[in-house]
Amino acid sequence: ETMKSVTGLADWEQRVADVLQVQRVIIVPGNSDRYSWVKKELGRACVQQMKEMLVPDDIVAVAGGTTLADVAEMMTPDEKFNNVTFVPARGGLGEKVEIQANTISSTMATKANGKYRLLHVPDQLSKETRESLVLEPGIKELLRFIRQSKMVVHGVGAASTMAERRETKSATLDTLEEKQAVAEAFGYYFDKYGQIVHKEKTIGLQLDDLQENQTVITVAGGASKAEAITAYMKYRPSDVLITDEGASQAVLGL
Ligand code: F6P
Repeated sequence: ETMKSVTGLADWEQRVADVLQVQRVIIVPGNSDRYSWVKKELGRACVQQMKEMLVPDDIVAVAGGTTLADVAEMMTPDEKFNNVTFVPARGGLGEKVEIQANTISSTMATKANGKYRLLHVPDQLSKETRESLVLEPGIKELLRFIRQSKMVVHGVGAASTMAERRETKSATLDTLEEKQAVAEAFGYYFDKYGQIVHKEKTIGLQLDDLQENQTVITVAGGASKAEAITAYMKYRPSDVLITDEGASQAVLGL
């Protein structure tokens, strides 16, 4: 039985919002674990939200991943976006080029008729290099720009899926297992209580940089992400969660 046939998605959206303490939940039909078109629908819903919430001159920080790549794919031009700048939230996180935040920012901006700025940082950097890199005037200015973003749009993944996809080194895998990581977002790993248990080292937006006046939109669907979504929202409930029926049912334990 689908959620739609019971009471309409609006009631379910409210239930998920109550459980996760998220202000606004949008549920699209289907389960993105099963059908790839569902992820496109997540993308479409996200684009609509962005259009409703953004104003000219806003800066939007976007994360990587296949879901965000679908948000970019579903992006369409809007006058409102003319002076909006899209930037990657953080530097390299070991993802393929197609789903890196840089690529997604430029695709989104191009489709939206907006602007973009890129952050070029290799994935694996020593502490020393990272620390000197952030002092480079150009990078420093860009990081300041990223921190001024009005909106942050990001995905969430299951910790094990993400660790595997990134070819994480075995010492980190051990930590994740030992600390029972279940969720990943922005390069941070969380346990089921929403506690940060590991952080990938890259420059850009750090989670404690997030301010009350920034709108955070989380886009994540598929029943396999239910535990991860629930854990992440314990860390910091987003302003908007865009998810699907599959994830929602699992979040509600149905
Ligand atoms: O690696 C970038 C990232 O945004 C992660 O923070 C997140 O867990 C993941 O991608 C989501 O990827 P996908 O949308 O492909 O499930």
